[in-house]
Amino acid sequence: MRTLCNSGGNLINLRFCHCPQFRSSNAPFLIPSSRITCLSRRNPTAAISYKHSLFSPSGLSPIQASMASSTSSIGTEETKPFSVLFVCLGNICRSPAAEGVFRHLVNKRALDSKFKIDSAGTINYHEGNEADPRMRAASKRRGIQITSISRPIQPSDFRDFDLILAMDKQNREDILEAFSRWKSRDALPADAYKKVKLMCSYCKKHDETEVPDPYYGGPQGFEKVLDLLEDACESLLDEVLAEHKHLQE
Ligand code: 4NP
Repeated sequence: MRTLCNSGGNLINLRFCHCPQFRSSNAPFLIPSSRITCLSRRNPTAAISYKHSLFSPSGLSPIQASMASSTSSIGTEETKPFSVLFVCLGNICRSPAAEGVFRHLVNKRALDSKFKIDSAGTINYHEGNEADPRMRAASKRRGIQITSISRPIQPSDFRDFDLILAMDKQNREDILEAFSRWKSRDALPADAYKKVKLMCSYCKKHDETEVPDPYYGGPQGFEKVLDLLEDACESLLDEVLAEHKHLQE
């Protein structure tokens, strides 16, 4: 269990992350995750911007936002892109790599316009940051570009995405916990939790059930992440295309 917070150089074992930027009484999304670890303070204002992104980003009430979203959605089931959101803890290692790998495969099949692909984290600590340089370098060696900027998952993601893919079981638990807190307040579709799946459930060549967090490990951890993601993304894409034939027309 990693529960370290770094406040000015002192490492403290905490079940919750008590970094000052998370300590506001208005903190909107303090996940009681035993895995939250805050060792970097690259973006000390992240909690403030996250607060605004979670609560009424458009200035509309949740019901108004829900109506606006349903009336402005472009096209029908037959024409709208299929949307996939990849989610990990920090949105700087695994989910940006998943986004890059999946985008690469979609691009190779010339299906870019048929997919909307994004990634997010269950915490906002790295919000606004580029992906971890180690993850970007490992991906680049395989010809995969990672361009995402970290952002936390938000209520509208449960409306806007067809599939939400969690990298590990704790991520899935945190996503579902956020959904149960947001669903009434934000008038989310009651069955949107069904969109949440484990990334490794798509793996065909690997037996692992989770994409392991590489953040505190060595270079081989980043290679393992990519091995699993390449396997999972390949069959994810095949499965989506088999189930939604219109995407290839
Ligand atoms: P990710 O990796 O969830 O794959 O983006 C991590 C990134 C940051 C931290 C942990 C895991 N962190 O403790 O800051």
